[in-house]
Amino acid sequence: MKKGKKLYEGKAKIIYATNDKDLVIQYFKDDATAFNNQKKTTIEGKGVLNNRISEHILSNLGQIGIKNHLVKRLNMREQIIKLVEIIPIEFIVRNVASGSITKRLGIEDGTVLKEPLVEYCLKDDKLGDPLIAEEHIYAFDWATKKEIEKVKKMILRINDFMIGMFRGVGIKLIDFKLEFGRFKSNGKTEIILADEISPDTCRLWDSVTDKKLDKDRFRKDLGDLIPAYTEVAKRLGILHEQSNVSAVNVTKLSSIKKRK
Ligand code: TMP
Ligand code: ASP
Repeated sequence: MKKGKKLYEGKAKIIYATNDKDLVIQYFKDDATAFNNQKKTTIEGKGVLNNRISEHILSNLGQIGIKNHLVKRLNMREQIIKLVEIIPIEFIVRNVASGSITKRLGIEDGTVLKEPLVEYCLKDDKLGDPLIAEEHIYAFDWATKKEIEKVKKMILRINDFMIGMFRGVGIKLIDFKLEFGRFKSNGKTEIILADEISPDTCRLWDSVTDKKLDKDRFRKDLGDLIPAYTEVAKRLGILHEQSNVSAVNVTKLSSIKKRK
């Protein structure tokens, strides 16, 4: 597989063309942004951990029949993925209230929701990814009703699976963000899960202590982001090192064999 030209650069990832028209390479950067790019820095090793964690979650989801863009991880920072046309909606799934919903609606942080709440945001950095109603999606043809019905069913299965997977390793899945895309192949179009699922795109709290193991460590200046992401990777069984992986040690991750 040959790596071609850069097709797109986002805040945390870069997409490169390949010599296969259906496939692209997704590169995980170390850049961290929050509050729509108002706050940014580089955290050495973050991209390596997100690449591994996202690979683990998406391949597990694939095994339970959730179609997604992951083909395979190539190396420390890159994976081969299917080229999709991204639906311009960020699907936010909340099990416990935290983050923007607490400020927007005055809900107390940590309030357990009766059932999962799905929110829609328009994926548009210039507008600050505004919250929208489902009706806006149809009014402006961002997706069809049929597509959204399919996405909603996938979201609930993904949420159930991820809650269980994290609960099994002592982590509460507070909320997360998903993106979906249209994959066109042999004249057919199907909706598949895309982007990444990692501590950058989820809120993950230790089940016992409520310690934050996600990007809130950066958003809230709590520090120790790499040890927190490493902890998530270790608990998921992706890393087998004894030591607390520091930013410098992350370079060693390349030599750690992938567990199947
Ligand atoms: P929020 O509380 O800021 O709305 O975020 C809800 C969840 O979605 C949280 O786990 C972080 C994730 N998220 C992203 O991954 N990307 C985004 O652009 C936003 C706004 C949230
Ligand atoms: N991902 C968004 C940003 O980079 C928002 C966030 O994750 O807080 O600004």
